[in-house]
Amino acid sequence: MQANLKIQRYDPEVGEEPRYDSHQLDLPEYATVLDALLQIRDDVDGSLAMRASCRSAICGSCSMRINGEARLACKTLIANIVQVEGAEVTIEPMGNMPVVKDLVVDMSMFWDKVQKIQPGLLPKTPEPEREFIVSNDSMLDLATALNCIMCGACVSDCTVLEVDKEFIGPAALAKAYRFSNDPRDNATDLRLDLYSQENYIWSCTRCFQCVQVCPKDVAPMEKIMSLRKQTIEAGHTNNPGTRHTQAFADSIRKTGRLDEIRLTVKAFGITNITAMIQLIPIGWRAFRHKKMPHLLPKSISSIKNVRRIMDKLGNE
Ligand code: SF4
Ligand code: SF4
Ligand code: FES
Repeated sequence: MQANLKIQRYDPEVGEEPRYDSHQLDLPEYATVLDALLQIRDDVDGSLAMRASCRSAICGSCSMRINGEARLACKTLIANIVQVEGAEVTIEPMGNMPVVKDLVVDMSMFWDKVQKIQPGLLPKTPEPEREFIVSNDSMLDLATALNCIMCGACVSDCTVLEVDKEFIGPAALAKAYRFSNDPRDNATDLRLDLYSQENYIWSCTRCFQCVQVCPKDVAPMEKIMSLRKQTIEAGHTNNPGTRHTQAFADSIRKTGRLDEIRLTVKAFGITNITAMIQLIPIGWRAFRHKKMPHLLPKSISSIKNVRRIMDKLGNE
């Protein structure tokens, strides 16, 4: 099987712009991207920097962007890519994290964010004399979250992190779900309070990218949505995220349309002077480009049907 690998090379210490090196390889059908990279490093260019260890999709160290999407190099068969995406395979370092060299990124930001969610059990006291016994059923729900190998693929491709580095990110929030739903943990309420604050669960835009790229089917976005539901049910509602959700539902019930002006004001709170002042330039730009939402949006003709649907959905 013929494949053409284009590998991004970059050494920030040298100060040159990133470049791409091309390598034409004849590979066996079972070759993974990692096999190809190791072959290049061993036979062609020993200076290629990359991370890998287990070669079995367990250690999480070989995440990189392959044809524009974060994947594990050791789990990605070149034959599958060539078949679906063509013979050219572009390999780049993960996104949203600074490049150390070539395909190696600095994951300090990733670990700092995981640390912020209290990644450890805060057990009930007094601790039992022997081990905690938990039912199989109560751990089943955590099984997918426990599959996380901390590879960073979801963080690499998170669309919110591209524009807002303060967002805690999908991997940390999947971990947050894992601990706040563990029956041995005794700090669920404290955790939910923390996770409902700014830059945590309410910053996700539900783009699905973390679900798409996760090599272990952790589905971080689904965990984030569950945490949102749990925080509301636990009464942690005094935050812009919950108010935004409520205002969104109210607006649809009232007119069948999104009343963007009231939605924004209700989310931040009219008494939040700083937020209101910060919104003025956005409003002005919208006005200048004739994008200002209507001050009093009219109801759509089938509003009764919309309300009937919302009544059926209830709190969902
Ligand atoms: S769904 Fe949310 S957490 Fe996942 S990639 Fe999109 S914005 Fe990021
Ligand atoms: S959630 Fe998935 S993509 Fe994100 S770090 Fe864990 S295993 Fe990797
Ligand atoms: S080398 Fe361990 S996950 Fe790829």
